[in-house]
Amino acid sequence: MLTILGIETSCDETAAAIVRLEATGETPTGTILAERLLSQTKAHAPYGGVVPEIAARAHLDELDRLVAETMAGLDWSDLDGIAATAGPGLIGGLLVGVTFGRTLALARRLPFIPVNHLEGHALTIRLTDGQAFPYLLLLVSGGHCQLLRVGGVGDYRLYGETRDDAVGEAFDKAAKLLGLGYPGGPAIEAAAQSGDANRFRLPRPMHGTDGCAFSFSGLKTALRRAATQCAPLTSPDIADLAAGFQAAALDCLADRCAYAMARFAQETPAPHRLVVAGGVAANRALRARLEAEAQKRGFTLAAAPPEYCTDNAAMIAWAGAERLAAGHPLPPDLAPRARWPLDETPHVKDADGGGSIGVSTGLDYA
Ligand code: KG4
Ligand code: ZN
Repeated sequence: MLTILGIETSCDETAAAIVRLEATGETPTGTILAERLLSQTKAHAPYGGVVPEIAARAHLDELDRLVAETMAGLDWSDLDGIAATAGPGLIGGLLVGVTFGRTLALARRLPFIPVNHLEGHALTIRLTDGQAFPYLLLLVSGGHCQLLRVGGVGDYRLYGETRDDAVGEAFDKAAKLLGLGYPGGPAIEAAAQSGDANRFRLPRPMHGTDGCAFSFSGLKTALRRAATQCAPLTSPDIADLAAGFQAAALDCLADRCAYAMARFAQETPAPHRLVVAGGVAANRALRARLEAEAQKRGFTLAAAPPEYCTDNAAMIAWAGAERLAAGHPLPPDLAPRARWPLDETPHVKDADGGGSIGVSTGLDYA
């Protein structure tokens, strides 16, 4: 049994959580003992995106209190380690979280476990649903859009990724364009509900091409053009544009997943499982769409509850616990890094998409 304090400060959420891992059967059981999360949305809203310096300062101001609150019912001797996100993400925030976590670990004589934020997203489904390995993972967040085969802790093979924007970034930019505010994903989803997805026919980049590469920048440009032609926008116009955008983005994700499922099924004996994780996985329309696509191909779909799709510290504590349980935690002195691919094969030859696999802040606050 392992009890881990997790710290997340990679973007605009300051979070701390304590998670317990019990090695029971084939898949360990996870319990969240305490958690606190503070979103900085309000501080960044006037700028239409995350301002890294404001984010880092806010983490610094709040982390101490949040950690103390999660520890309220526990003693330091109850812990087996302290985990903190070491990347990818905004470097100022990462430095705050890692320095805080490492110092605390030194003072309390506990192991310090640096965690890759993407590994946190990738393994969350094992904490929330006890999902067994292996599975196909669609990782969709503000900084990433990729398909991977997850074979075990530390065993990630990239099938394909975006050539330009991450899908969450596209949602955020679309919302900004339509005057729906930040963060954009939930705003687009809400507006789309009353919209007609067929009024504006927007492009589906990469749709129908071989492989697992994504692209969203053309869709964003097409949305801007449609909105400009239609201006001044009424509420129904905004709803129709949001619905058209969401339908196009979901079509792309579903199409790429179809290719990935075929590849995964060739490489992996049944049962076949598709997992969707990262902030965009909170989107209900996406979950419904993937559920249908998975069923058609004999896959089961698993997704964490929406609050564990977006950034949180329970996933960081859990990834730290899984690493410790597997006997290969990352070295405690690992330096925080803005870019950090999950599949660290030097050039990831068999993956589609190409270009950088690191984080893009995705948030054009300038
Ligand atoms: O995983 P996450 O919280 O942070 C990153 O690691 O990036 O993902 C945040 C992203 C944002 O782009 C946000 O707009 C998007 O997830 N998102 C959504 C929804 N909820 C959050 N996108 C579409 N629909 C949603 N309901
Ligand atoms: Zn994230």
